[in-house]
Amino acid sequence: MRQVTYQKLTDLQQKALDAAEEVLKHSYNPYSNFYVGATLIAENGKLISGTNFENAAYGSTICAERAAILKANSMGIRKFVSIAIIARGENFDTTEVTAPCGSCRQVLYEIAQLSGCDLEIILSTTKKDKIIVATIKELLPLGFGPLDLGIDITKYQKAR
Ligand code: THU
Repeated sequence: MRQVTYQKLTDLQQKALDAAEEVLKHSYNPYSNFYVGATLIAENGKLISGTNFENAAYGSTICAERAAILKANSMGIRKFVSIAIIARGENFDTTEVTAPCGSCRQVLYEIAQLSGCDLEIILSTTKKDKIIVATIKELLPLGFGPLDLGIDITKYQKAR
């Protein structure tokens, strides 16, 4: 896990973070008024973004990270190298990075297994003045995955 400046990110990492910021405007958040954007970098370099979609039954809310993953899967893409995450409040900018919730970490762990890599996670404050680059294993140590069930998911891997 390391803290970096926006300038130190690669061009593609910067583009992913900018795309995650861009999708914030589509966040559907009448209950929390909290905007989250997430952009996956697919193995082939494609960027796929998602934003949070809330529900009156709060527990049915879909986080930005999982929205992006489901969108990518619907496009036939299941192999990624990275995900960038950014957030803001209705009337405030975040001063600490927003990290994925526990459920999203679990789903990202599955994605890491499908991707065959320790998925990189780029976390940013609203103004991109604090950026942390971590991996899924750092955010979810000793995670539970397909191997625990003795299941080989390699045939489900899909790049495009
Ligand atoms: N949220 C995300 O989209 N991703 C996260 O990593 C943290 C939380 C959303 C869910 C809900 O719409 C709002 O943020 C407040 O929890």
